[in-house]
Amino acid sequence: MSDAIANTAQKAVTTAVQRCIVPACAATFGIREQIYVCPRCGGPLQIEIPLELLQSVPDLRERWHARASSHDARERSGVWRFRELLPFDGDAPVVTLCEGNTPLYDAPRCAQYAGLTVLRLKHQGCNPTASFKDTGMTTAVTQAKLLGARTVVCASTGNTAASLAAYAARAELQCAILLPQGQISPAKLAQSMDYGAVVCEIAGNFDDCMRLISELGDVPFIYIANSINPFRMEGQKTVAFELLEQCGWRVPDHVVVPGGNMGNSSALGKGFDEMLRLGLIDRLPKISVIQAEGSAPLAHLFAGLKPSQFGPEAALPDELAPVANPRTLASAIKIGAPVSWKKALRAVLRTRGNIITVSEPEIADAKAIIGRDGIGCEPASATTVAGIRKLVAAGKIYAGESVIAVLTGHVLKDPDYVSHYHRGTLSFESVTEQGTTKSVPIGGAFRNAPEKVAATKEAILKSLESRR
Ligand code: F0G
Repeated sequence: MSDAIANTAQKAVTTAVQRCIVPACAATFGIREQIYVCPRCGGPLQIEIPLELLQSVPDLRERWHARASSHDARERSGVWRFRELLPFDGDAPVVTLCEGNTPLYDAPRCAQYAGLTVLRLKHQGCNPTASFKDTGMTTAVTQAKLLGARTVVCASTGNTAASLAAYAARAELQCAILLPQGQISPAKLAQSMDYGAVVCEIAGNFDDCMRLISELGDVPFIYIANSINPFRMEGQKTVAFELLEQCGWRVPDHVVVPGGNMGNSSALGKGFDEMLRLGLIDRLPKISVIQAEGSAPLAHLFAGLKPSQFGPEAALPDELAPVANPRTLASAIKIGAPVSWKKALRAVLRTRGNIITVSEPEIADAKAIIGRDGIGCEPASATTVAGIRKLVAAGKIYAGESVIAVLTGHVLKDPDYVSHYHRGTLSFESVTEQGTTKSVPIGGAFRNAPEKVAATKEAILKSLESRR
């Protein structure tokens, strides 16, 4: 990069600010202030990079693409190769595990299942700790280093914890994770133990853990890495850039993501918005968020919006009614009070997307169909394909449109679920009209249980013949 161009890019990142997203406040703060919400009004913060400075930098897309083939981890990382749009200067102590650069797969069986001509899956489970969280943790933990934090903490349904634990280990920082006791997949818990985190199993649900995290926010040596942290969102937004690159900079009609704490949808919204404002694309994809039926506070709010509350410039509602006792077997998104709901709702409304729910059997069958395309994912990720199928059936996505589902976690994140599904022993707790709970079995349209076969060639051939 020539000196003049490098200086322009450097100036853009060093003049970045943290800004409150509440329009009536819009207060700004320096990027090295250790804050998570607006100190003035309590609103969510986001990083604002003066994009106008970057408009004079030529060939941004070519630069980003060229770095992907570098052997230098910092250059190659699917997050840091977009560094002109990250709020860090050239001397930042980058903590990376070579995250990002994940595949975009064509999924013909899923397309047919959903009623589409073509469906592509962006597999964020192919990250170093096997979930999308890594793209945000690289920037959050780099910021923790810059601030001189001693300990990084998060509340988690499992994946944020595993990711933070790994990046903290790389950065030689102490890591504490708060998990709802007994509600985490053992595979995710095992990762956090292996990466050396202090694992605190809390007697409560994820929302209780999140409340405790906000209480820890005023301890100076502690740095919070949940998605309220705007620096984490900066890493996660790069998924939008990478996805556009993989689409040859042709904007897809729809991008569909699962919704839990709502960081992912918020970050994608910011990423696409920055590309539009930089003039690298000429329209936005519709961003849709899919929630599990029993953990769907934002889908409920969305369903109750009045016509005047839709549209890109509509004022956001002030409150979200939380789900007191969230339920779903997709434990990653078992969340009743998502912290980033405002940013996510803003992204969906701006792009005229949708927020809907899917049932437990719908999630389970969609997950198995994704598997039949040779692409494993964890249950939360499969809400996307289940949701797309519903949106196609409802006429909100057309068969010939270009649609991308973001898979957020790897199939090995929750092997117990997969095994129970295929053996026909998966069931979920449903709430009856009387308010009691009952166990409902999931039949599983695509079950594939192992069978006992005699140790002979004939028996194996017979088994193959019977399954043709
Ligand atoms: N998919 C997976 C696999 C997740 O782990 C999560 C969130 C989501 C989807 C939802 O993303 O929160 O950005 O809306 N997992 C968090 C965690 C809550 O602690 O691992 P979101």
